[in-house]
Amino acid sequence: MEIFRDKKTFTDYIERQKEMGKRIGFAPTMGALHQGHLSLYEIANKENDLVISSIFVNPTQFNNTEDLEKYPRDAERDVMLLKNTKIVDAVYLPEVADLYPEGLKSKSYDFGGLENEMEGKFRPGHFDGVGTVVEELLRQVKPNNAYFGEKDYQQLAIIEKLAEQLQLPVKIHGVPIYREENGLAMSSRNQRLSYLQRDAAKVIHETLVKVNEWFRIITVSEINQRVKDVFDDQRGMSLEYFQIADEATLKETDFFYKDQNYRAFIVVNVGTVRLIDNLHLD
Ligand code: PAF
Repeated sequence: MEIFRDKKTFTDYIERQKEMGKRIGFAPTMGALHQGHLSLYEIANKENDLVISSIFVNPTQFNNTEDLEKYPRDAERDVMLLKNTKIVDAVYLPEVADLYPEGLKSKSYDFGGLENEMEGKFRPGHFDGVGTVVEELLRQVKPNNAYFGEKDYQQLAIIEKLAEQLQLPVKIHGVPIYREENGLAMSSRNQRLSYLQRDAAKVIHETLVKVNEWFRIITVSEINQRVKDVFDDQRGMSLEYFQIADEATLKETDFFYKDQNYRAFIVVNVGTVRLIDNLHLD
């Protein structure tokens, strides 16, 4: 596995691979890699000639300094993990100046309203930060296919919109959420949970599964109330938001229309750790 730590040597490598006609599959990360990330590379490996990873903790997408500071960082471990997969051909570990040559600031995007829903309300500026770094990475990596986890479903929808609006020659793929044995969605943040918190946090996925059972049987407001009740009863956990949204527009719905696709979205703070999850309803 090749390791690149600066833009020039990395982009020269990409040019050479392109000239050889290699199909590139890419999944960017912020490190603290886990099986969820590795599942992106497994799919990329099946669909491409070359698999590229990047590791960069992107400051502009954090709207909370404490969250940025506490974000787990262990590049040595991550690089070793990627190498051991034997399917990742190269990893790019850029410096801030490689991705932000004009200084650390976000561009301002209009994603047709997708950016104003859910996480957009709770994390102002977050999607401008994600858009800025992903646009720059896609321009440098020039992948044919790029892979993003469905855990950050709104991010995935926004990146699809970004690629479409900027006419980037890449196909964006969503990859199903990889879950721990107890159902908890895999996340780098799970490392910050104690053993007991990790066990208790299984209630998040269990609740989404119940929501799917209630789907089209009881009303949206009844479902919302039941979810609220579940978390009112949990100690050391608080529900930041729960909503059922139209899968295409991500707008919250208060009624289940026929022939519309819906997804349930949830954010729960377990102690000081913010956990996010979602489930397609069928
Ligand atoms: O999902 C992530 O890990 C990040 O938001 C991404 C896409 C790597 C951009 O920094």
